[in-house]
Order: sequence, then C-alpha cells, then structure tokens
Amino acid sequence: MSLIVATQNKGKLKEIRRVLASVGIEAEGMDNYPELIPAIEDGTTFKENAQKKAQAIVQQTGKPCLADDSGLTVEALHGRPGVYSARYAGEGATDSENNLLLLTEMAPIADGQRQAAFCCVMALCYPNGECLFFEGRLEGHILRAEQGDGGFGYDPLFQVDGDQRSLAQISIDEKNNISHRGKALKQMISNVNDCSDFN
Ligand code: IMP
Repeated sequence: MSLIVATQNKGKLKEIRRVLASVGIEAEGMDNYPELIPAIEDGTTFKENAQKKAQAIVQQTGKPCLADDSGLTVEALHGRPGVYSARYAGEGATDSENNLLLLTEMAPIADGQRQAAFCCVMALCYPNGECLFFEGRLEGHILRAEQGDGGFGYDPLFQVDGDQRSLAQISIDEKNNISHRGKALKQMISNVNDCSDFN
C-alpha cells in the first residue's frame, strides 16, 4: 500500500514515512515523480496551503495524495513566522538563516515570555475532489541558542516545557509521539478506515 506525500522537505518526509510505515503504508516522496509541478503556496492559512499542495499532485497523478503544511507560531512575535515559516528570512532561506533571524528577533524577549507552538494541518485529497483534514499542535518555548543537530527546521531552537532537550536532541520516534505532525498523522490513521484507497 502506498500514498504520495506532496512535500520536497526531507525532514517532514522522514517523519511521515516513519509513522505510516508502522501501519503498513509506504509514503512516496515527490522525488519519485520529478515531472510533477508543486503548487504555489500562496494561501494565508495552513489548511489552505495543505489543500493546494495535495490537490495539485492529485490532479497531475490521479492518485490520492497527502500534504502537510506546518509552521512555528511565536507569541511574542504575534504569531509569526506562522504560515511563512519556511521563508521567514526570505524566499529560499535555509534553516540556519531562519533560525538566526528567530534568535535575533527573540533576543530582547524575557524568559517566561518565549512561548511558541508548532502547528500542522494535513490534507488527504482524493481524485473525486474530496479532502479530509487533520491537525496537530505542540506547545513549548524558544531557546536562546541552538541545541542539537537532529531533526530539521526550527527543532534546535524549540523546547517542550519541562524538558531539558530541544526537539533536535530527541529521537524521531519520540518526536513523532508528541509532535504536531505525529498528532495529525495519528488522527489520519484512525479516521481513514479503508487504506486500500491508497493503492
Ligand atoms: P511548509 O509547510 O512547507 O510551508 O514549511 C514548514 C516550515 O515550518 C519548515 O520549513 C520548517 O521551517 C518549519 N517546521 C514545520 N514543522 C517543523 C518541525 O517539526 N520542526 C522544525 N521546523 C518545522
């Protein structure tokens, strides 16, 4: 059983693969389909972008497709970078550039006011036009320096309250157990009864 995942983000794909493999579903990345043109992510919400990404690939392949739109919302930054998390430091920005900007913007913010959350909306879209949506959230705070070199994106700067480690210092399974993405995937798995749809 396999399902196309509309993402070019290797970190996301690795986490999604790991969870879906545990229930016998193979997650195929877009690298298996170099001819596919990804959607332009011009929506203003995670849900809108997730749907755009999934539907663009459904239309080109005629197969069911899963897309993840996610990001980091920081209270002291009034919810930024939010849906613009991937390009916070500019179009095509690297994770290091985004993390550096986050550290700079958060430098004047006091301990105790550094709350943040990762949000994820997944869209599972079918060739008949139907889409199902699943959401997850992970609360924590922003560190004052990067910690660890695992994970991807803002993981080295994000710590779950009460933990001494950043998300870049925990295993992929531990992250999937608590994360915004893991929660959305668990919902998907328990709501989709007929996985044979993915063949
Ligand atoms: P998009 O969903 O492709 O627009 O990009 C989401 C961006 O949010 C990523 O490029 C990361 O910068 C950030 N992000 C989303 N989920 C995570 C996560 O689990 N860890 C760290 N950063 C994340």
